[in-house]
Amino acid sequence: ALALPLALIAGYLFGSLSFAVIFSRLMGLADPRSYGSKNPGATNVLRSGNKAAAILTLAFDALKGYVPVLLVLMFGAPYGLGETAAAFVGLAAFIGHLWPVFFRFQGGKGVATAAGVLMAVNPLLGVATLLSFGLIVAFSRYVSLAAMVAAVFAPFYQALIWGPEPFIGALVLMSLLLVWRHEANIRRLLAGTESRLGQKAAAVQ
Ligand code: G3P
Repeated sequence: ALALPLALIAGYLFGSLSFAVIFSRLMGLADPRSYGSKNPGATNVLRSGNKAAAILTLAFDALKGYVPVLLVLMFGAPYGLGETAAAFVGLAAFIGHLWPVFFRFQGGKGVATAAGVLMAVNPLLGVATLLSFGLIVAFSRYVSLAAMVAAVFAPFYQALIWGPEPFIGALVLMSLLLVWRHEANIRRLLAGTESRLGQKAAAVQ
């Protein structure tokens, strides 16, 4: 009975590792919460001009969603943890990214972490969602718009192509939180002031 709460807490702690802040510190860069969109995420770290830091942030923020889900899928069965539990552990990691206990609860928007979770829960769903994301980024150059649209599509892809498995609840919650965290981006998109991929921050202290 303790397995699920323990796995959820572990997932949350994993997700709380804000790699945008961690790699920026390790590489002697400014705190991503101080420039651009002020978001601790790969997109904003890229605005510092340091591509390596952005790629590391993207990779590790995705892995912290992917790995906990995979671990539950691989080793959870003897403890009664199946696919649904695994998806909710992924949601816990995602929530850790949004409200990280190690970083005063000032987290990000969860795009990379959600991608990692989807990839682990249903790899083909992960690929379909990433393709949708990539297509929208390619045409619009807005990472935020692409992330929101892809996130909204994901539960529908799952339900319509692979079936509405019980774990879809975790995906729906993840997508709703992801869109909600993009509130400032939505306002900028509507105002026409959202920055496009490749634009650097006006001032990186
Ligand atoms: O990484 C989240 C992305 O969708 C938007 O990031 O920095 O433009 O708010 P940002």
